[in-house]
Amino acid sequence: MITAQDIAALNTKFQDQQPKEILKHVLDQVSNIAISFSGAEDVALVVMAWKLNKDIKVFSLDTGRLHPETLRFLERVRNEYKIDIEFLSPNATALETFTRDKGLFSFYEDGHEECCGIRKIAPLRQHLQGLDAWITGQRRDQSPTRADVAIAQVDPAFSTAQKPLLKFNPLANWTSKQVWDYIRMFDLPYNPLHDQGFVSIGCEPCTRPIGPNQHEREGRWWWEEATAKECGLHKPSVIVSDR
Ligand code: ADX
Ligand code: SF4
Repeated sequence: MITAQDIAALNTKFQDQQPKEILKHVLDQVSNIAISFSGAEDVALVVMAWKLNKDIKVFSLDTGRLHPETLRFLERVRNEYKIDIEFLSPNATALETFTRDKGLFSFYEDGHEECCGIRKIAPLRQHLQGLDAWITGQRRDQSPTRADVAIAQVDPAFSTAQKPLLKFNPLANWTSKQVWDYIRMFDLPYNPLHDQGFVSIGCEPCTRPIGPNQHEREGRWWWEEATAKECGLHKPSVIVSDR
C-alpha cells in the first residue's frame, strides 16, 4: 500500500530506477490502479506493465476525434495482448450541446480547452473517481511544459479533499529514443502514424507531423502558444524529490 505521505520519498527512490522496476513496485503495492493509454508510443508502458501483470487495467479516452489509424492500433493491442481496454466516451448530452452551439472545429477559433474539457477531462475525472492511482506515459523530454514531471506524485488536478489520487509516470526520465529502442527491441506493435512523421499523437484535427528540429509536441494544437500545449489531463507537476 502506498499513501500520499510516502510519495516524496518514493519519488526520490524512483529516480535511480528503470521504468520496469518502478512499475513492479507500484503494481505490487497498489491494486486499484489503471494505465491511461493514448494509442501512441506509450504502448511501451502498457506492454511493460502487461508483462508484470496480465490483468492490468488499461483505459483510453475515445474522444470521437482520434485518427482511424489510432483506433485500429488500440484494437490491435487489445487483441494481441488480450487486454480489455476500457474506452471512455464523452457525455452525449454535453457533447451534443457543445457541437450544436459551436460546431465541430471551434477549437481553431477559441482554443482547445472547451472541447478537451468535454471529450477528455470530464470522462477522465469520472473514471479516476473509482481508482486509487493512475499511470501515464508522460516524459520530461516531451516538451518544456513537462520538464519537471515527477515519477510519483499526488495528482494536482484530480485529487479531491476526500481522497488523494496517486499518479505515476514511470517513463518520466526516459528519452524518446529509449522508448523507441524498447519498442524495436521487443518488436512491439506501434501506431502506423509514427512512420508518417507524426511523433506526438492526439486527436486528428489537433495533431500534425513535425518537421526537422521541431520539438515533438509542436505538432499538437500548433495554432496555440507553446505554453498552452496541455489539455488538462496533466497539470504541471511539482517535483517532490530532493534532487
Ligand atoms: S496530452 O495530454 O497531450 O493528450 P500526450 O498525448 O502527450 O498527452 O500523452 C501523455 C500521456 O497522457 C499518455 O501516455 C497517456 O498516459 C495520457 N493520454 C493522452 N491522451 C490519452 C487518451 N486519449 N487516452 C488515454 N490516455 C491518454
Ligand atoms: Fe477536441 Fe482537439 Fe482536444 Fe481532441 S485534442 S478533445 S479534438 S480540442
